Amino acid sequence: MRQTVVAGNWKMNKTPAQTTELINELKPLVAESANKCIVCVPFTSLANAIEACKGSNIEVGAQNMYFEESGAYTGEIAPSMLTEMGVKYVIIGHSERRQYFAETDETVNKKVIKAFEHGLVPIICVGESLEQREQGITVELVSMQTKIALLGLSAEQVKKTIIAYEPIWAIGTGKTATSDQAQEVCKAIRDTVADVFGKDAADEVIVQYGGSVNAGNSKELFAKEDIDGGLVGGASLKAQDFSVIVNS
Ligand code: PGA
Repeated sequence: MRQTVVAGNWKMNKTPAQTTELINELKPLVAESANKCIVCVPFTSLANAIEACKGSNIEVGAQNMYFEESGAYTGEIAPSMLTEMGVKYVIIGHSERRQYFAETDETVNKKVIKAFEHGLVPIICVGESLEQREQGITVELVSMQTKIALLGLSAEQVKKTIIAYEPIWAIGTGKTATSDQAQEVCKAIRDTVADVFGKDAADEVIVQYGGSVNAGNSKELFAKEDIDGGLVGGASLKAQDFSVIVNS
């Protein structure tokens, strides 16, 4: 039985002080949840987030990392910098990183491998554009993104991985995929994992849906067989809304 995992992707929002405030508001609202709750905050808010989450059931993730250990990579953050702080999760390959910061399936794969070397759980984002959906290549494209992202991992590692299906046209647009559309692609991701890594890995890998998840649609989405929770942007910035999603 897979656990439902809900992760908030705060993107470039909240200062450190605002982070402490939001987490303190959120903590009592999700304290009784049977689902896993993660907040992925900006690098500059990680220390505050980890401090604020102490003794609670909320875990902390980063939104990106680099695939080298250290060195002359101005502006980048190494995995050991995250783990030493107590960070447990890292979003990798969000479509905004792919779109604005030239990330590719190959760099995503390098980061995923590096994350595992350091014991970080990657939340790998895959998903199609509206044009790709209209061309009818969604399942093919997302399967390929998934295969490349996971290249070189063991089945045991894949079992611990979180994959977030995020159709680009649904992110921040208020246009959620229907629960059937989301289920279709999340199932295709699980089938892809089964093909490459076997049924056990496919049964355990967490597949989330992301893209305009809100307090009104999360329940229906997460009830689908192959949707194990969500990656939530906008609605994760409001404690009340996010707690409803986490408790779905
Ligand atoms: P959204 O973002 O919930 O604001 O659509 C989701 C995401 O980008 O992870």
